[in-house]
This record gives sequence, C-alpha cells and structure tokens, in this order.
Amino acid sequence: MGIRVSIVLALVLVGVVYSWQLAAQETPAPAPTTVTLPAAQDTNPLTLEQALRQRRSARAYGAAPLTLAQVSQLLWAAQGITEPNKGLRTAPSAMASYPLRVYLIAGHVTGLPAGAYRYVPRGHTLELVTPGDQRTNAGAQPQMQHAAALIIYAADTTAIAQRTNEQLARQWAAIEIGHSAQNVLLEEVALGLVGVPMGGYDAAKLKPVLKLPETEELYYVVSAGTKP
Ligand SMILES: Cc1cc2nc3c(=O)[nH]c(=O)nc-3n(C[C@H](O)[C@H](O)[C@H](O)COP(=O)(O)O)c2cc1C
Repeated sequence: MGIRVSIVLALVLVGVVYSWQLAAQETPAPAPTTVTLPAAQDTNPLTLEQALRQRRSARAYGAAPLTLAQVSQLLWAAQGITEPNKGLRTAPSAMASYPLRVYLIAGHVTGLPAGAYRYVPRGHTLELVTPGDQRTNAGAQPQMQHAAALIIYAADTTAIAQRTNEQLARQWAAIEIGHSAQNVLLEEVALGLVGVPMGGYDAAKLKPVLKLPETEELYYVVSAGTKP
C-alpha cells in the first residue's frame, strides 16, 4: 500500500471517530434504566400520633418539586425491606408472600427524569418502564395531573392463590395494599407533603404505560406533592 493511500485512510479514520464523538455529545443522555434510591432515614421527630392527627386527603399541591430523597422515603414506607435475611418489609404480608407490585409515575421530581418506574424493594431501586411524563395516563381526576408523583399499586396473586384460592388471594392483596398505602400517607405527613389515595384511576391507560404483566392487577393510586 502506497504512503498516500495510508495517509488518506488514516484521515478518513480520524474523521469517522471525530464525527462519532460529536454525535455522542449532541445526543441527550437517555433516562437511566436503573435508579439507585438514597437510603431511607428513620430520624423524623414527628410522633406517630401527630402524623395520624394531621393526615388529610389533599387534592391541591404546590409548584415545588419533590426531591429524590422524599420519593425514596415514600417508596420505602410502601414496601421497603426492613429485615434483609427473609426480606420482610414495612407492611405486613399474608404468609410473607409479598404480592404487591409498586410503581412510580414521576412527573416533577428533582433528580429523577419524568417517567413510569417499577420499585424494586431488594436493592431499593427504580427500574424505568416508560420514559416521559405519564401523569395524564393515570386518570381524569385533576389531582392526578397536578401531583408531582403518583404511587401505583398492583398485585400478583398467582403464588398465594395456589396456596389458598383466587378469592382469598385477591382479598388479602387488597388488605395488604391498605396497610401499605396508609404507611405512604403517614410518611407524607412526616415529610411535610400531601396526597390522596384514589380508587378512581384509568386502568386501560395505566396498564400499557406500566407494561403490566397479565399476572398483575391494578388496585390503587396514591398521589404525592408539596403543600400549596
Ligand atoms: C378506597 C378508597 C378510594 C378512594 N378514592 C378516591 C378517589 O378516587 N378520588 C379522591 O379524590 N379521593 C378518593 N379517596 C379519598 C376519600 O375521598 C377520603 O379519604 C375521604 O373523603 C375522607 O377524607 P380524609 O382522607 O381527608 O380523611 C378514596 C379513599 C379510599 C379509602
């Protein structure tokens, strides 16, 4: 190969590498598929009784965003692991079967790109399911769009139904979601946040956004936002 051909080839190679680098700089960073949440804290001075007394359903929210630490705390209250050996959690579970599946629709959270995420208790992480602001897909109630984030409850009762029966398994899942949602509502009070539990969601729109498997059924939505 002649020296001129080698120089031309080298120049072409440099050009290709340079344009790749430029393209990489211009493309915005995609939302991370896994988000490691900050560790939950248990140093809040509010007493349980004060939180119970102050809890009130709120459908109006402030313009300020939630922080990732606040979202982390709410998800931990919902299903955080508090006993690592057996994986026992903040909310009780029939036969320790843990059928609940907790999703987060983040709309206005500092440090977390808008999107629908699946909460993974083991590791305390979020897995991105659908990027972009999905709040309008939760339902027609205005507070769903105005809340900074929505916690969505689904349950997979397959395993517990095999050990009991379908009806009991679904009944127990609903009871467990009640336990967990109350944890979230009280944690909101403890953090100075507000929200409302909602049974009036749009399942047809939510299912594709959450990429809900056939085995999971939707149950409940809890909003979270700052005070107006
Ligand atoms: C199972 C259940 C479903 C609910 N669904 C909705 C809802 O879809 N929209 C809403 O604005 N509030 C909903 N709520 C909240 C109630 O309206 C609220 O708890 C009630 O008015 C009492 O007010 P408080 O929560 O401030 O004590 C629901 C509450 C429960 C327990």
